Amino acid sequence: MKLLVTAGPTREPLDPVRFLSNRSSGKMGYAVARVARQRGHEVILISGPVSIEPPDVQVIQIMTAEEMLDAVEKNIEWCDALVMAAAVADWRPALISKSKIKKRNNSDFAPTVHLERTPDILKRVSARKGNRVFVGFAAETENLEEEAKRKRIEKGLDLIVANDVSATDAGFEVDDNRVILLPKEGAPESLPLMPKLEVAERIVKWLEARS
Ligand code: CTP
Repeated sequence: MKLLVTAGPTREPLDPVRFLSNRSSGKMGYAVARVARQRGHEVILISGPVSIEPPDVQVIQIMTAEEMLDAVEKNIEWCDALVMAAAVADWRPALISKSKIKKRNNSDFAPTVHLERTPDILKRVSARKGNRVFVGFAAETENLEEEAKRKRIEKGLDLIVANDVSATDAGFEVDDNRVILLPKEGAPESLPLMPKLEVAERIVKWLEARS
């Protein structure tokens, strides 16, 4: 199989020294890329800025949601399956200052940052899905299953991997995850707390069974 995997956060600049981002470490997406490679699949990994070692696959480094969209669009025709594990920033500063925003000596000046939406990558490529399998992740702090199901339908996914990011032993930054696999067809499967590499193996095996 040819797998296009996205991982990590995106970083949306405000000025040359500041940005808006999130807590994603990239571990889940990197685990999917690593396991898929080990199991003999071809992988292109599109990665936001992270500080972990990449597996031995082609890696495309990006910073912003717009750049991630561009990289996904350029490679979507190539793949058999898209796994969107990236935590794409939903908003970005509407204006990016070319120079560092200064405090303006001795004043109480505090800037107001106007935000605008970033593109929804899954929605933007849905028209080119064809026979490809699309897998998404849902990061939730409440109503986990309901929200994940809503996203699976809205984004036209074959599988959504729901994780509760308010837990401290699973989800963001740590090596373990506790997820629910919610396929479009078939019953949901709640997995116990396990290493992200094992969650990745479940996802890749699910993809193998589908192809
Ligand atoms: N996603 C995407 N483009 C975005 C935001 C998210 O393609 N601009 C993808 C993520 O990679 C993930 C899925 O959509 O696979 C769900 O992401 P999540 O952040 O959980 O949901 P949101 O779409 O941001 O929705 P909400 O704001 O309601 O949580």
